[in-house]
Amino acid sequence: MLVDLRSDTVTRPTDAMRRAMADAEVGDDIYREDPTVRRLEDEVAQLLGKEAALFVPSGTMANQIAVQLHCAPGDQIVVGEHAHLVLYESGAMGAAGVQHTVVGRGGFFSPRDLEGAFAPAYYEPRTRLVALENTHNRAGGRVWRPEESLAICELAHERGARTHLDGARIWHAALATNVSEAVLARGFDTVSACFSKGLGAPVGSAIAGSRELVHEALRVRKRMGGGMRQSGIVAAGALHALLHHRARLLDDHGRARRLADALRDAGLETVAPETNIVLFSPRPGTSPLELSERAKREGVLVSPFGPTAVRAVTHLDVDDASIARAIEILVRA
Ligand SMILES: Cc1ncc(COP(=O)(O)O)c(C=O)c1O
Repeated sequence: MLVDLRSDTVTRPTDAMRRAMADAEVGDDIYREDPTVRRLEDEVAQLLGKEAALFVPSGTMANQIAVQLHCAPGDQIVVGEHAHLVLYESGAMGAAGVQHTVVGRGGFFSPRDLEGAFAPAYYEPRTRLVALENTHNRAGGRVWRPEESLAICELAHERGARTHLDGARIWHAALATNVSEAVLARGFDTVSACFSKGLGAPVGSAIAGSRELVHEALRVRKRMGGGMRQSGIVAAGALHALLHHRARLLDDHGRARRLADALRDAGLETVAPETNIVLFSPRPGTSPLELSERAKREGVLVSPFGPTAVRAVTHLDVDDASIARAIEILVRA
C-alpha cells in the first residue's frame, strides 16, 4: 500500500461522503437556487463569524476574488514570505495588475514590520490589502495566534488598508490554538477556507466576509468563470467534511508529531510541527529530490520542498500503520 504524504489534498471521499453527495438536493446556483450550496455557505459564515460566505471551486479562486474585491490595478498587497498567493497561484495577482511587497521573516510579521509598507508619497505604491496565511504552508503549517493577527488587522485598518486571511487550513489552526475559527478570523475583511485540504472533500473552498463584500464576490466569481450550476453535489461533500471531519484533524496533528519526533531521533533536522505539516532535511549529501525518489520506490510519497527541505503532510487517508511504515522508509531513504 502506497503511503501518500505529498499533500493533504490527495484524500478520496469516504463512502458516507459519497452517499451525502449522491443524495444532495440541488438547483441552479447561478440563480442562487441550490439549497445545499446555501446551507454550506450559511454554515461556513457562522463558523467563521462573518455575515455571509460564497462557495467557490478552489482556494486559489477564493484568494484571487479577495484580491479583486480589495484592489485595483496598480495597488499593492502586503504579504509575509513564501505566501501561497504569490508562489502558487500562477501569477494571478500580476495578471490582475496588482503588485506585492514582502515583510517579516518566514511568513510571519509584526505590526512594526508592517509599518514601513504604508508609504506616504504619491509616487510610492498604495497598499490596499494586507494578507496573512493561517496555517502557513511553507512555514510547515505554523499558526498565527489570534492576538498577533488582530494587531496586524488593526494597524492595516488604521492605515486605510483592508485585510484578507488565506485560511485554507484555518480548521487546523483553530484546533492547534484551541480557539474557534471565528476568533482566528476576527479583524479580517475577507477569509478564504478550503474543504479539500485534510477535511477530505473532493472539491471546494469558500470566501467569507460582510454581506456587501460577498455580494460583490458573486460578480467576481462569475467573471472568473467560477459560477457553477447544480453544485450542491460537490457542496454536499464539503458540508459532510465540515460536519464530520473537523475534530479528527487532531489525529493528523498527533501523527505529524510522531513522524517528526522519529525523524529527529534518527538525526534528521526537523521542524517541530504545530499542525499536520512536517518539514525535514535529508542527511548531508542527499538532496530532497533524491530522498523523495528513494522513498517513492519503497512506497512512500513526499514532496521536495525548496532546495533543502522535504514536506510530509498527514491527512484523513493516513493511519497509524501508514505513519509507522513512513518512518521506517524515510529514515532509510
Ligand atoms: C495556504 C494555501 N492557500 C491556498 C491554496 C489554494 O488552494 P487550491 O489548490 O484549492 O487552489 C492552498 C493549496 O494548497 C494553500 O496551501
